[in-house]
Amino acid sequence: MGRRQYLLCFFFLCLISSDQGLVKGVVGLACNWGTQSTHPLEANIAVKLLKDNGFNKVKLFEADPAALKALGKSGIQVMVGIPNEFLAPLASSVQVAVNWVQRNVSSYISRYGTDIRYVAVGNEPFLQTFKDTFLNTTFPALQNIQAALIKAGLGRQVKVTVPLNADVYQTDSGLPSGGNFRSDIHGLMISIIKFLSDNNAPLTINIYPFLSLYADPHFPVDYAFFNGTSAPVVDGSISYTNVFEANFDTLISALEKNGFSSMPVIVGEVGWPTDGDRSANINYARRFNQALVDRINRGQGTPKRKTPTDIYLFALADEDAKSVRPGNFERHWGIFYYDGAIKYQLDMGNGKALVPAKGVRYLARQWCVMSPEASLSDPNLPNSIAYACSYADCTSLGYGSSCGTLDARSNASYAFNMYYQTVDQRNGACSFSNLSTLTKVDPSQNTCRFEIMMDLGKHETPPRRSFAGRKENPAAMMAFISALILIICGAY
Ligand SMILES: *[C@@H]1O[C@H](CO)[C@@H](O)[C@H](O)[C@H]1NC(C)=O
Ligand SMILES: *[C@@H]1O[C@H](CO)[C@@H](O)[C@H](O)[C@H]1NC(C)=O
Ligand SMILES: *[C@@H]1O[C@H](CO)[C@@H](O)[C@H](O)[C@H]1NC(C)=O
Ligand SMILES: *[C@@H]1O[C@H](CO)[C@@H](O)[C@H](O)[C@H]1NC(C)=O
Ligand SMILES: *[C@@H]1O[C@H](CO)[C@@H](O)[C@H](O)[C@H]1NC(C)=O
Repeated sequence: MGRRQYLLCFFFLCLISSDQGLVKGVVGLACNWGTQSTHPLEANIAVKLLKDNGFNKVKLFEADPAALKALGKSGIQVMVGIPNEFLAPLASSVQVAVNWVQRNVSSYISRYGTDIRYVAVGNEPFLQTFKDTFLNTTFPALQNIQAALIKAGLGRQVKVTVPLNADVYQTDSGLPSGGNFRSDIHGLMISIIKFLSDNNAPLTINIYPFLSLYADPHFPVDYAFFNGTSAPVVDGSISYTNVFEANFDTLISALEKNGFSSMPVIVGEVGWPTDGDRSANINYARRFNQALVDRINRGQGTPKRKTPTDIYLFALADEDAKSVRPGNFERHWGIFYYDGAIKYQLDMGNGKALVPAKGVRYLARQWCVMSPEASLSDPNLPNSIAYACSYADCTSLGYGSSCGTLDARSNASYAFNMYYQTVDQRNGACSFSNLSTLTKVDPSQNTCRFEIMMDLGKHETPPRRSFAGRKENPAAMMAFISALILIICGAY
């Protein structure tokens, strides 16, 4: 190479590295964006929220069209997920996978410039609670998606992976060095890892220190928070001071033991919820996530894997329509509230504070509460609360949660308001057998927030004719059906 070319090359290298230097501290922040909400953030607002907070990688749980469009030309790299329900059809034929890739990957790359880097095939399909439901379909689906990506000319650009729960490995000795894959899926795991490795694709694992604390009240708290220096877990020459590293290195040991010591690993989900359990609160979540973000910004690895790994925080915002089967905390994993409002401050790197969502529109500042005239001994009260909470999210009312200490009246008010907001403050929705009334005075108290929902334009279309629009009023629905029957019977 001539001297001039050499200099030019050097100049460009400097440009590239100084560009990276400028954004250092926010480079490599990644997060999960789930949309199981009654009122999801508008896609463009969510993408701006990601960018404003230094996230340049995002993981979606499905090929949500609005999200994939909004992510186009955003500078954010995307991992797009495939729900477990879709594994069986994808396993059944390459053509299904070809269609899926064409429709949900190729088209967004070519039409919108969406920077899709990974397809996540399934979501924790080998979770022990799923039993063997997805054991037969996950690997064939993975192979078919990989074949479809190659067919679409995306084999280099887009990699496959399978996000797995950390219960796919275990350790008999209780130490990370004893790590190996669960015996019932050992062979399957090796086949999948070999396939990923052959295709230069990473393994993705979800790690939840919160669940360690949730499952075991005697679990050492400091050890859950990157801070168990007083009682470290000693494993040969390594002293583990936190369960995150110990858990991750258990996987690395399992990989080493089976001949995959250099297999790339992504942490697909890790985070801390803020509500719905004694151990789910804002102080704990801030403590955990701050230490995590600091590690990511430092590029810190683990004792057995010094090089940093992509770590996707879980999650961007709360999701009030998620199943609470795992626990009431499940709807409160957001770094932000459901509307992109700030729950707690974090230093995202170099002192950069969290930035809330911009441009969010809200419904009117009014709340539905238990009316002062109503009596706590009204026989309709229990059913009214139960009805409200069967439709809306009342997980903050539980023991140890943010609204767990409300008195009975405020408790009822909370339930009524959640219902009222969830149905977009619909006319007539604040009428629980005359037990409720509207107020303009914010009933929030201490840690308990009485929310106002985002205005998604759903309340602006009276008169409502749909059945959905009558959901809150079973009596009206019955009257409607009776009238219909009368009309039909009368006609014949
Ligand atoms: C694209 O993905 C969505 C969401 O996962 C799915 O419902 C749809 O069937 C997929 N399209 C094709 C052609 O498979
Ligand atoms: C998986 O395949 C095995 C062997 O073909 C079969 O015995 C088993 O019933 C299948 N499991 C499911 C859940 O389909
Ligand atoms: C760990 O605990 C010490 C002492 O309480 C504290 O100074 C330090 O900031 C903590 N570190 C993290 C990462 O929380
Ligand atoms: C508040 O409501 C929740 C949900 O209906 C219920 O489990 C709890 O017992 C109630 N608490 C009080 C003090 O009424
Ligand atoms: C609510 O109050 C109104 C007016 O007092 C009354 O006519 C109506 O029957 C009451 N409805 C219920 C369900 O109690």
